[in-house]
Amino acid sequence: MPVCPQAAPYNWYVATKGTETRHDPYVLDGARPLQYGPLPDRIRHRFPIFKERVYINSCSQGALSDAVRAAYQQYLDDWDEKGAPWEYWVERQEAARTAFASLVNADPDEVAVTASLSAGVSALASGLRFASRSKVVLTDWEFPTIGQIWHAQEARGARVVHVPAAKNGTIPHEHFERAIDDDTLLVSVTHVCYRNGAMVDVPKVVELAHERGALVLLDAFQSVGSLPIDVRALGVDFLGAGALKYLLGSAGLGFFYCRRELVERVWPTQTGWFADENIFAMDHTDYSPARTAARFQAGTPPVPSIYAGIAGIRLMQEIGIAETREHVLELNSHLIAGLDDLRAKIVTPRRPKRRGALVCVKSKDAKALVSALGREGIVTSERDGNLRLSAHCYNSVEDVDAVLASLQRHRDLLA
Ligand SMILES: Cc1ncc(COP(=O)(O)O)c(C=O)c1O
Repeated sequence: MPVCPQAAPYNWYVATKGTETRHDPYVLDGARPLQYGPLPDRIRHRFPIFKERVYINSCSQGALSDAVRAAYQQYLDDWDEKGAPWEYWVERQEAARTAFASLVNADPDEVAVTASLSAGVSALASGLRFASRSKVVLTDWEFPTIGQIWHAQEARGARVVHVPAAKNGTIPHEHFERAIDDDTLLVSVTHVCYRNGAMVDVPKVVELAHERGALVLLDAFQSVGSLPIDVRALGVDFLGAGALKYLLGSAGLGFFYCRRELVERVWPTQTGWFADENIFAMDHTDYSPARTAARFQAGTPPVPSIYAGIAGIRLMQEIGIAETREHVLELNSHLIAGLDDLRAKIVTPRRPKRRGALVCVKSKDAKALVSALGREGIVTSERDGNLRLSAHCYNSVEDVDAVLASLQRHRDLLA
């Protein structure tokens, strides 16, 4: 039996297709069932890190759950028991596609399963032509990868324009109005900024962009899993995300949504055999991209991360994303009140509608502050001189109080 699909002849897939009948191992193998009751008590026991630490860093990575640990074990067991169950692993990719689609109210054929957010966005960029419209508009709140991908297109004729933030830390709508015009092909916006936690008013930007004939790409990495996302309600044309933060998965898995009507208008030139119309055809004599969003994929899927990602997404759906959003908003009002008592400089917008799960605080030495909190068992992160505090479904009022008490002890490191 062939050991990997690259070496496997077409017939191997046909011979094994449909021979596997398996139960779904993701939800509860090795994991304890959810209990009823308010957050976080009913789910906190599923995240062992809380026995040792106060983990309030989901903007970097979600805490490891028993379900995700069990999913990794299942991957190893499948590998051990079956040798190379590629047929099943390809089917797992479809399960990940469906799971993500249901999360954002897309159809599965509008979703690509990728190895990172960057991979999906790069595939999009590689498939756009900058002829009749040449301008790409992006905000100064974008994650570096977004800026880098669009600036890379300057070699292909793109003109990249940045929408600046105002001094008060917001991006006023007039700034978008000034930047988006009838030469704009695409507006690329982040949903929640990774540096300051601010949330863009996406429908308003989409309305303006569409009015002026431009498409909109949303980077939802810092929002997906922390608040409900509906691509139809937001009206975006493309959306990129990853699994490792508020979706509780791990590194190595991304998703890319493309509105159905646009799929066949983009011709990715960054591609691979898992983007083909028929990956089983093993045809090296032609390029026929899938008629679905799978055309934004590339090579062999990130199988272990797919196991983890499915488990994470399902766990978040069981926990409840809308309830998580409410819970975290409450925790964050408590956090903000405590930070005000400490006279800390909060750089995240105050209005709940204009912020994600992340609250950022200016520091005199953010790296030293993260280390000082770390020595007291509190896991946080920093960017751009700001301490980042990002609560999720599993965090409690006691966690927030522990952070505030520690910040009081290290008040000298706050700006
Ligand atoms: C907002 C945002 N976009 C993009 C990325 C990078 O995604 P990837 O490494 O999957 O391309 C991150 C990672 O932290 C992020 O926070």
